[in-house]
Amino acid sequence: MKKKIIAYNRVEKPVLDDLKKKYDVRFFKNIDTKNDPEFLEHLSESEGIIGLELPVDAELLDNGPNLKVISNVSVGYNNLDLDEMTKRQIMGTNTPGVLTDTVADTVFGILAATARRIPELDQFVKNGEWQTEAVGSEHYGINIHHKTLGIIGMGRIGKAIAQRGHFGFDMDILYHSRTRKPDAEQTFNAAYRTLDQLLEESDFVCMITPLTPETEGMIGKREFQKMKKSAIFINGSRGKTIVEQDLIEALKNGDITAAGLDVFENEPIEPDNPLLNMKNVVTTPHIGSSTHETELAMSELAAENLEAGLNGKRPPNLVNPAAFEKIE
Ligand code: NAP
Ligand code: GLV
Repeated sequence: MKKKIIAYNRVEKPVLDDLKKKYDVRFFKNIDTKNDPEFLEHLSESEGIIGLELPVDAELLDNGPNLKVISNVSVGYNNLDLDEMTKRQIMGTNTPGVLTDTVADTVFGILAATARRIPELDQFVKNGEWQTEAVGSEHYGINIHHKTLGIIGMGRIGKAIAQRGHFGFDMDILYHSRTRKPDAEQTFNAAYRTLDQLLEESDFVCMITPLTPETEGMIGKREFQKMKKSAIFINGSRGKTIVEQDLIEALKNGDITAAGLDVFENEPIEPDNPLLNMKNVVTTPHIGSSTHETELAMSELAAENLEAGLNGKRPPNLVNPAAFEKIE
């Protein structure tokens, strides 16, 4: 009999089709995972889950007594309660590396769009408001090249953003991380700063840490007030690494100039969120890694992780190694 697995929210079709040949797969999307009877029934018999942003807590795990592995189709794994999973010897996995350059491209695209007001001016043209040959200073943007880019979270994606800033735009790179990064210091001439120093010195502040208990709400009122009034803030990490209400206030008060946001406290964002009415805010719907090529590569890697876990092997991208040690 085929092993039962759950696919959740997003697994690319060729990968899903391949999994269906080997496993009894049920796909779920946009459901209430606490109360959906079909989901709960399948969960009670499933050995693995593959997908995106499934909130995994003790209650869900209690309802999945046969689970061996939960394979995220994402590099972030803040949706997984790893302590509870490890207690139950359930492995958690993610998809690092294959999305690094794509996310850095997105973050840089949002940065450029915000600095040069591209979405706003696109609407200006399409609305027929471009009526004199030369636009006036009210439509000018801010230079990116030769400015200072401050990166909070100099990991894989942070370094790929630094690479684009340093080699592509002649920017000075500052960074803040838990540990120093000699490779980035050498390759991109990046300079380490305390968080406060980085906020005070940067023209662009880019947040790209994981969401953890330490980073939750890391950028709030105090931090926005430390930034230059001319600063542009970019969030490519998770919505909850910042205090969104404090960002709204900082933008309203002119504490900073603009923001480019791929992630939000609530996703999808509420239609009445004030950020949506601000011309100096560029928004995208959490699409950091969303290209055809990269989503496929992520699904493939997630399937590899899933299958290793289902077969009692150590998955290549295990995020709670203690769970595997318990199995061994
Ligand atoms: P990574 O290689 O693990 O890098 C994370 C970096 O954050 C590391 O340099 C780490 O520092 C730093 N960090 C962790 N906690 C910190 C803290 N308290 N203070 C300062 N720095 C801290 O991960 P990655 O592959 O670059 O991905 C980073 C995150 O980007 C993901 O976790 C995810 O949340 C987000 N992401 C978003 C999208 C999107 O679609 N918008 C797509 C992909 C990823 P140390 O090295 O010193 O520990
Ligand atoms: C996307 O947000 C990811 O963490 O891969």
